Amino acid sequence: MNEVDLRDSSPEPFLLFPKDFLWGVSTAAHQVEGGNCNQWSDWELAGRIKSGDTCGKACDWWENAERDFDIARDLGLKGLRLSLEWSRIEPEEGRFDPAALQRYRQMLEALHERGIEPIVCLHHFTHPRWFEQRGAFLRADAPQLFERFTREVAKAVGDLCRFWVTFNEPNVYAACGYVLGEFPPGHKGQLFNALRVNRIQARAHVLAYRALHELVPDAKVGWAQHYVVFEPGQGMASRWVASLLDRLFNHTFFDLIESGRLGFPFGLLNGRNREARGCCDFAGLNVYSRFHVAFDIRYASTFFANVFVPSHVPQGDPGFDRPYGEAYPQAISEAVRRAAGLGKPIYIMENGVPDAEDQIRPWLIVSALRELHGLIAEGHDIRGYLHWTLTDNFEWNEGWKLRFGLVALDPETQHRTLRSSAKLFSEIVRGNGLAVSTMAPAPLSNTLP
Ligand code: BGC
Repeated sequence: MNEVDLRDSSPEPFLLFPKDFLWGVSTAAHQVEGGNCNQWSDWELAGRIKSGDTCGKACDWWENAERDFDIARDLGLKGLRLSLEWSRIEPEEGRFDPAALQRYRQMLEALHERGIEPIVCLHHFTHPRWFEQRGAFLRADAPQLFERFTREVAKAVGDLCRFWVTFNEPNVYAACGYVLGEFPPGHKGQLFNALRVNRIQARAHVLAYRALHELVPDAKVGWAQHYVVFEPGQGMASRWVASLLDRLFNHTFFDLIESGRLGFPFGLLNGRNREARGCCDFAGLNVYSRFHVAFDIRYASTFFANVFVPSHVPQGDPGFDRPYGEAYPQAISEAVRRAAGLGKPIYIMENGVPDAEDQIRPWLIVSALRELHGLIAEGHDIRGYLHWTLTDNFEWNEGWKLRFGLVALDPETQHRTLRSSAKLFSEIVRGNGLAVSTMAPAPLSNTLP
């Protein structure tokens, strides 16, 4: 069934995906809702969005998510991942807002009415200001606060959702907020705090996992792990720094969930959390890029690693002051092989490329799906693919500069236009696969000369 099939109606070989494969898209509350008051709103007010853009109404989901849900239904999508904004639900510590929970009920109901399975994420980078001011995930009591929030959510909407993602990309959250200074709270070089944040998030994940299983009998709970390929340049030193980045970035949270402790040598620093071991029903993978790594004495703040994207590789639009990353569909295979060790079903929770003109997105989608089909044929238990994203949304520090949508958005007018990759993806979803000949030629580069 997962092999190349010859369909009755067509002599053309067809890459058919398993029955019930979850085809969909991913989104995040702050990026689509508009009008949020969280630590990212403060970051924006402090002038930290590189493009100078403001999030504004974003995709206007708080008022009218249903407009995009209609598009998702019309494209034939089966799943849509969204996050619930903690700062709306618990605007002051211990005070939960029934109106916000009601709006989320409405949104989840609207998805069901359109035949779309919701996948709910509880933390996609944003949280209430009061939580940030208390030290966020550096605080020892953060897991209990996160659990209390999770319980309120599960009580309010648990009957409307089976799939739960506790944390989106704990590794990106910790690396960007505590090592690179790119996300709030904007600290640089605080490796030990970054590891502490991940340990505390792993504890919060465990408490949320248990609470969800207690309150939502058929819940499937996991997290979404960002996975990057670090390609070493020539020489031992480059291999060493690339493998250090790989360990720290790709494996820290995985290790915490897989074995209940941080891998060597970081486990020596009291990285034990036995109860986290095996604590997930699926592994979610967010996969986008490859970076090249060369040892360079001048890059002390990144452990002497010069992390770069050669100009000749396929890539989408560049960010404000650097390339976004090499568009590297093969990264999916590396990520899946890493996640397979957990022995749980795997979902690709995000995959995409910033590409306003839709020059390489079709190639990326087709290549990623060919990669996935091959992995399934090898026996990997991959249950779904969610593209990032449905409609262009507010891309964190880059604001409106990077466009990841299958659907183009003019944030001023809220006018939406389907990109050709939306039509391509829709055909794939409806056919539950793609013809082998559906292969756009590999691009060299989208924007670079
Ligand atoms: C994040 C999204 C982000 C996307 C594109 C992912 O790492 O989860 O929030 O928009 O990458 O950069």
